[in-house]
Amino acid sequence: MGGKKIPGPRGTPVLGIIPELKRDRLRFVLNMAKEYGDLVKYHVLNIPFYQVNHPDAIQYVLQDNNKNYHKGFETMPTLETTLGKGLLTNEDAPWLRQRRLMSPVFHHRNIEAMGEMMTRRAIQLYETRWADAEQTGTPLNIAAEMMSLTLDIVSEALFSAKISDKAKIVGDAVTVLVHDATIRFDFPFYPPPHIPTPHNRAFRRAMRELDEIIYGIIAERRAHPNGHHDLVQLLLDARDPEANDAPGEAMMSSQQLRDELITLFLAGHETTANLLAWTFYALSQNREMETRVREEIEQVLNGRTPTANDLPKLSYTRQVLEETLRLYPPAWMLTRKNLADDELCGYNIPAHSFLAISPFAMHRNPAYWDEPETFDPERFSGERAKQYHRFVYFPFGGGPRLCIGKGFAQVEAQLILATLLQRCQLSLAQNARVQMEAMVTLRPKNGLWMKVS
Ligand code: HEM
Repeated sequence: MGGKKIPGPRGTPVLGIIPELKRDRLRFVLNMAKEYGDLVKYHVLNIPFYQVNHPDAIQYVLQDNNKNYHKGFETMPTLETTLGKGLLTNEDAPWLRQRRLMSPVFHHRNIEAMGEMMTRRAIQLYETRWADAEQTGTPLNIAAEMMSLTLDIVSEALFSAKISDKAKIVGDAVTVLVHDATIRFDFPFYPPPHIPTPHNRAFRRAMRELDEIIYGIIAERRAHPNGHHDLVQLLLDARDPEANDAPGEAMMSSQQLRDELITLFLAGHETTANLLAWTFYALSQNREMETRVREEIEQVLNGRTPTANDLPKLSYTRQVLEETLRLYPPAWMLTRKNLADDELCGYNIPAHSFLAISPFAMHRNPAYWDEPETFDPERFSGERAKQYHRFVYFPFGGGPRLCIGKGFAQVEAQLILATLLQRCQLSLAQNARVQMEAMVTLRPKNGLWMKVS
């Protein structure tokens, strides 16, 4: 098929498909897959994009021929300043070295040890905020509540109690950085950070504050290394077994450590917060499923606070989370750029092309799912769970760049859901309108307002 024309919409002159994207990005990627099939070509301004909709082709890009693909983040100017050469944005040999260094840190033993902290934080949230809201009948923005809970958890996981006195500064700075990524996602031509718009000034201030705190912690830890049990300590102690013997070669530099810590901060909370918010929403719309989750929690735990050891027994709770990740994948779109010419689905893809791979579009593609728009956790029960192609359902990505925080997120989400469901039920507030918004992550537009009872 070599030089054959790849199907796709014509789009308007100059803007290409921007008007459709602006109207509804999610509908757009879904329609492209339905109307044009396995590979679709469209233009954003005059830049060609190739949306890949076949699981074998996605596997080829993310896994089998991954060495030919970068993420193509050069197009987001502040990402380099914010995340530097952290795991999410790094490439090639430097990425591989960091991944090798960091993988043992995310070993399930280390994550399970944080279970108590995760449930303690969830109980604290209920007791300090939700119990009052329950008494007064005041609706809460559950999306924001989950964001603050998962930020607290990732802060404590990274730095133990060390930043509790600075938690507010860190929380505010991280919120500014997430907001910046969102603005630049929505307005790719927003002035670069050195132009002093009010937003850019706030962005640079947030970066300075965050850097000051993080470098301060790194310096203090290097001076007094003992007695800490948190991720920053594990990262400081990590040594690359394949490094040569030169002093310092095997460990991370302070700059690298800073980049990894900010990356984990950012990658490690908004995604899980959205998963939890969407789960509470889905359960409020499917009460019989919620009842089944409650019965399982009651039967396994008998009122006791869950630990990581209980999680394998909470299988229906896990299925509910998996089904939520199918319908509302927080990382709804992955991007790639090929280094050399390649061939996908029998078509030529010239070097340096942008590829769009959407878990959202694949997870709702009727070619691979029965009644794709229906929330049905049974899809992930026993044998049925094994029938899906690895790249028809991939909320955490796949291949070598698979999410390093997958285990962390799964343990965290299951523990928080069980702990909060033991204490209350959430119902959509009157007049609440729930709509998906596809920014950097897939989140509820204007929050998710719910009542606690
Ligand atoms: C429900 C929660 C989460 C979802 C849906 C999610 C999803 C993803 C996806 C799809 C990727 C691959 C991106 C790509 O290939 O372009 C990824 C990478 C990554 N995630 Fe997550 N993630 C979640 C939670 C977390 C957590 C809790 C952490 C850290 C504590 C984390 C840290 C990272 C990092 C560092 C990478 C880059 C890995 C690499 O390239 O080597 N994520 N995540």
